[in-house]
Amino acid sequence: MIRINVELGERSYPIHIGQGALEEVGKELARLNATRVLVVTNTTVGPMYAGRILKNIQAAFPNMPAAVVELPDGECYKDLEHIQTILDAAVRCGLDRKSVMIALGGGVVGDMTGFAASMWMRGISFIQIPTTLLAQVDSSVGGKTGVNLPAGKNLIGAFHQPKSVLIDPDVLKTLDPRQISAGLAEVIKYGFLGDCQFVQSLEERMPQLRALDPAAISDVVAHCCRMKARIVKLDEREAGERAKLNLGHTFGHAIEKATGYGVWLHGEAVAAGTVMAAVLSRRLGYISEDDVVRVRRLVKACGLPEVIANINAQEAWLLMQGDKKTLGGIVRFVLMHSIGESVIESVDKQAAVDAMHECGWS
Ligand code: NAD
Ligand code: GLY
Repeated sequence: MIRINVELGERSYPIHIGQGALEEVGKELARLNATRVLVVTNTTVGPMYAGRILKNIQAAFPNMPAAVVELPDGECYKDLEHIQTILDAAVRCGLDRKSVMIALGGGVVGDMTGFAASMWMRGISFIQIPTTLLAQVDSSVGGKTGVNLPAGKNLIGAFHQPKSVLIDPDVLKTLDPRQISAGLAEVIKYGFLGDCQFVQSLEERMPQLRALDPAAISDVVAHCCRMKARIVKLDEREAGERAKLNLGHTFGHAIEKATGYGVWLHGEAVAAGTVMAAVLSRRLGYISEDDVVRVRRLVKACGLPEVIANINAQEAWLLMQGDKKTLGGIVRFVLMHSIGESVIESVDKQAAVDAMHECGWS
């Protein structure tokens, strides 16, 4: 078992990574002196894994009241209505201040459970058990929680750190390969934004990763979690450094919104967005065409689209002005200074639009 500590003073917590990590749930509940437990999951993941979690809880604490609430599956249910579903279950289960919520699922379930836990009795503990690659390498760590509004993604939420994160690479075996590729978009992001050697190791090991080789996956998930823990320690509330985790996301969010949520998975849009960020970085004189080719090659090796075309650049620019990195109307991008080194900079409209045109946007 690999153990990584997210160091945030009194809000510090461990991440356990390895086969059998789910079985740590009893120990974690004991550490938290939990009185009751509510497992929040969805209609896809619940039937596969919730029974195993309950069995572990009951083995450790035969008298612990524990219940499961299943949300409908999909980003379109990541809304306030379904936060109410979680809170209604909390009422039914009589959760008190020492009760613990467990998020069992991908990023949608994780973000929603964390948000509900931040609100219940002004904040109770929660544990993340991420079951998608994206959630294992990114969303379960760092304490960003929230839901979407019709006006935009993740517009409301709270920073609420989990008390622990339990990551078992074996649960990825039931995941659709398209979702594995989408998770790999966030994996390669870590390399491009801050670790050239990691890019090289991903180039060498991509076939093993896509085949879910347990050693390769555990190693890569641990590397990403270490990088995220380091960044979150430096900048928990995204005053600066943490925004680098949005490499490829400014273009990516515009792709998701312009094409309609759900057409492209978040990771697919981020992958094409990462190529666009590389093209923009080259146009601004930071990286070479060879570097752009290298970015494209790794995106393709993940099974991800290098280009998502036919988007209107002017409309996309308007969408980007609503990006959370935009300050005072000035759109800021995460750019690559080199492979493995990134900066956050404001970019003028014409430079961004020229890069969009080069990438096939009208
Ligand atoms: P998701 O939660 O929708 O999961 C993808 C699909 O996989 C769903 O259908 C789900 O039911 C299914 N699934 C999950 N685990 C499975 C398993 N083991 N076997 C079979 N099927 C399984 O999507 P996601 O990509 O995990 O997360 C995307 C969400 O994460 C977005 O809402 C995004 O905003 C959020 N996010 C948050 C952060 C953060 O820091 N909080 C970071 C990145 C993304
Ligand atoms: N995934 C972006 C962040 O956690 O900041």
